[in-house]
Amino acid sequence: MISYRCYSIAILWFLALNNGGLLLLSNGGTTSSFIRNEEKSIDMPFDSDVFHAPSGYNAPQQVHITQGDHVGKAVIVSWVTMDEPGSDTVFYWPQDSTQKNQTKGQMYTYKYYNYTSGYIHHCTLKNLEFNTKYYYEVGVGHTTRTFWFVTPPEVGLDVPYTFGIIGDLGQTYDSNRTLTHYEMNPVKGETVLYVGDLSYADHYEFHDNRRWDTWGRFVERSVAYQPWIWTAGNHELDYSPPIGEKKPFKPFLHRYHVPFEASGSTEPLWYSIKRASAYIIVLSSYSAYGTYTPQYMWLIEELPKVNRSETPWLIVLMHSPWYNSNTYHYMEGETMRVMFESWFVKYKVDVVFAGHVHAYERSERISNIAYNIVNGECTPVHDQNAPVYITIGDGGNIEGLATYMMEPQPKYSAFREASFGHATFEIKNRTHAYYSWHRNVDGYAVKSDSMVFFNRHWYPKNESICQT
Ligand SMILES: [Fe+2]
Repeated sequence: MISYRCYSIAILWFLALNNGGLLLLSNGGTTSSFIRNEEKSIDMPFDSDVFHAPSGYNAPQQVHITQGDHVGKAVIVSWVTMDEPGSDTVFYWPQDSTQKNQTKGQMYTYKYYNYTSGYIHHCTLKNLEFNTKYYYEVGVGHTTRTFWFVTPPEVGLDVPYTFGIIGDLGQTYDSNRTLTHYEMNPVKGETVLYVGDLSYADHYEFHDNRRWDTWGRFVERSVAYQPWIWTAGNHELDYSPPIGEKKPFKPFLHRYHVPFEASGSTEPLWYSIKRASAYIIVLSSYSAYGTYTPQYMWLIEELPKVNRSETPWLIVLMHSPWYNSNTYHYMEGETMRVMFESWFVKYKVDVVFAGHVHAYERSERISNIAYNIVNGECTPVHDQNAPVYITIGDGGNIEGLATYMMEPQPKYSAFREASFGHATFEIKNRTHAYYSWHRNVDGYAVKSDSMVFFNRHWYPKNESICQT
């Protein structure tokens, strides 16, 4: 079984690599020389069809969902009404029932400089059945809108589940291509792990918050139907004292609620969920994480709670990568790495997904935790207890691609390329998962980088035997 799988993966690798054009082999892994458009990406104009608001007075828009509890039996439904508060009720029912349940949510507004938000609704649907398709309705009368989602299987050891991974999406024409490629990928992601930087509204004067609204309407076609698991990036900070905006994360935290209290967190910027066979820890690169800080105290208590006999796959999301051989944002994640990396090795995190750098990079399993203040041992080394670090900030935002990389490619860097795209992580069972990266310029089914993951707890062998 495994040898056949390895053989298949080797063929896929061969095809994928050759599809990428001439490859340069350097000191480390592979730096793809795939030729791409290096022009800056341009935001889609306000009147683009993907930003179209639903018709009708006060019709709900910007509908989005995320997991609403720790295990997947709840969903947070969020939407915005622009004209008046309107109804705060969600009607929902399982596919095989005509009996509608209803739950009331809460409504919020905020002001940001000269912008006043619409009426932002958040409503948590609780006590759902696992593995069940639900329909839900928001709005009233002729503006009622109906969507659906599928709850995850019950948390368990060998439960297959497929995640999509998207980061730094923004709202350019390239962003639209990335989202379309994710939707059209024959590997069907069931939940998106989103690694931060959503709308890039802060690119505009006074952080034009109308761009938060357009982003909400743009991604609704996916996030109204499957949960996106939110991570905060630097473009969520919206911190601008010159215009009187001194409270970080104000638009993001009003618009995107997460189930942080269910994991004992005291802030929505760091939290965890279980979903199927995965335990997902979300960290905030832009909140304090030094010793004794709330995030530090939460994580040090959180990691020992992960029961690999219940959730074999341990995945961490953050925005600023720890291992990045791009010249952009170089070493910005270093201080958090120093704080937490030894814990990730001790608790055998399988994979860390980050964004921020607008390119793609996958590391070997490496760690750099031997150093203390006197021994000088500060070089990353291969470490089979360490995670694979994947930077996937290549969603396609207005800042364009990060095309300059450090040379020579460090030994720990397995594959890197500056192209827009997304990834999928297909958990097969407690021992194996199949990961692949898909760039936008390829066909929907093409895998431009891929890797078979061996679970660090249940099958902690070196995956490189599967990649040569
Ligand atoms: Fe960023």
